[in-house]
Amino acid sequence: MPAVVLVGAQWGDEGKGKITDYLAEQADLVVRYQGGNNAGHTVQVGEEEFKLHLVPSGILYPGKTCIIGNGVVVDPGVLVQELEELQRRGIDTSGLRLSLRAHLILPYHKSLDAAEEERRGAGRLGTTGRGIGPAYVDKVARTGIRVCDLLDPEEFRQKLARNLKEKNEILTRIYGHPGYSLEEILEEYLAYAWKLRPLVADTGRLVNDALRAGKKVLFEGAQGTLLDLDQGTYPYVTSSYPVAGGACVGAGVGPTAIDAVIGVVKAYTTRVGEGPFPSEARDATGDYLRRRGAEFGTTTGRPRRCGWLDAVILRHAVEVNGLTGMALTKVDVLTGLSPLRICTAYRYKGEVLREFPASLKVLQECEPIYEEVPGWEEDITGARSLAELPAGCRAYIRRLEELVGVPVDIIAVGPRRDQTVAVRDLFSR
Ligand code: GDP
Ligand code: IMO
Ligand code: MG
Repeated sequence: MPAVVLVGAQWGDEGKGKITDYLAEQADLVVRYQGGNNAGHTVQVGEEEFKLHLVPSGILYPGKTCIIGNGVVVDPGVLVQELEELQRRGIDTSGLRLSLRAHLILPYHKSLDAAEEERRGAGRLGTTGRGIGPAYVDKVARTGIRVCDLLDPEEFRQKLARNLKEKNEILTRIYGHPGYSLEEILEEYLAYAWKLRPLVADTGRLVNDALRAGKKVLFEGAQGTLLDLDQGTYPYVTSSYPVAGGACVGAGVGPTAIDAVIGVVKAYTTRVGEGPFPSEARDATGDYLRRRGAEFGTTTGRPRRCGWLDAVILRHAVEVNGLTGMALTKVDVLTGLSPLRICTAYRYKGEVLREFPASLKVLQECEPIYEEVPGWEEDITGARSLAELPAGCRAYIRRLEELVGVPVDIIAVGPRRDQTVAVRDLFSR
């Protein structure tokens, strides 16, 4: 299985960072293909915790090539800071490469993100405020500025001057913001260019060369299926394509290159930001999951909304990503909770819906239909094989596989790298 895509199956924060780090040991390349520093991927190695936003979660193994692909939007100041922090902590970052084709987040994107949210008022999306949406808007509007432009000071000045004329008008006239000075942004960004230049490469070619040479490539999704611009809970989504197909677009490889797609599934459901969430537990169970699972945003620190596992969402994720398997995380958080509930379908105006609806108006009115399964009491954080999991836990996993229709290939029983059960060996199957 030389090319494996890891994709969030829910609303993000499923534990993609941990699973990427775990699989990265066997991979040669780890590639981020979309999103930006709205992502927060936590990796725990021993007692040390790393919070990664832009750098792929393979960076903690020396000698791996880690790629920020063309589909990512890059805030160069954040990238420089993240790299310096990793280096300060003794991490070898020499394998990092940044795509010439990746689009840049500029200061006005962040101001627009904040201003647009404020203007939405009660209808706000709850964005991370990192300028992600406005940067992708410019990309689609064909006015974006890319990494290759940043490396050419004259080109960068021209494009920035043209954009700033329009952005300053919007910021000052509509939002009462003072606007930005061309020279100040130029000075700041050209300093980043100087620092980032050595990493910049035609990363699509690097990935394709590696695949041709039979190397193992892991594509690390950010966000999740329900935050996907097309397949998610629009408009409460992010502005990129976290689904598996996004790996091809955002890394520069063809769909025929992909051998396996693993959905990272949290053993319950969480979401940050606004929007409908049928299996949300607005009761003591929600508080329990938040506390036990430490469900506070890696990027913004916001408390995550928590609820039961939702098989309707997971069946949607299987279809739109072509999942071949699942990596089930945070199973340890469910220990001691009994009975456990799994949402198997929705009730909408007296009708039973088994498929995830497109209309948010419908989704908002959906009531979850739950199946109850017994839990388990035993501590599972020391389990390293299926046989070491208690019968109740294995039964929960088996029921999930039945409801969703794909196998669980990896089980995470704690945040640390070693707290993992490999059911199937993905890279050498
Ligand atoms: P990501 O955005 O998908 O990479 O997920 P986050 O890193 O934002 O959130 C997942 C959180 O759960 C992180 O703090 C991880 O350290 C932690 N985590 C991951 N897997 C497990 C697990 O199996 N058990 C527990 N208790 N924590 C986990
Ligand atoms: P990782 O990769 C969870 C959510 C925001 C908001 C919506 C739009 O760590 O799983 P944006 O700033 O992208 O325009 O915000 O998407 N969101 C995430 N939620 N995990 C993430 O990333 C997220 N990235 C964005 O909370 O609801
Ligand atoms: Mg996260």
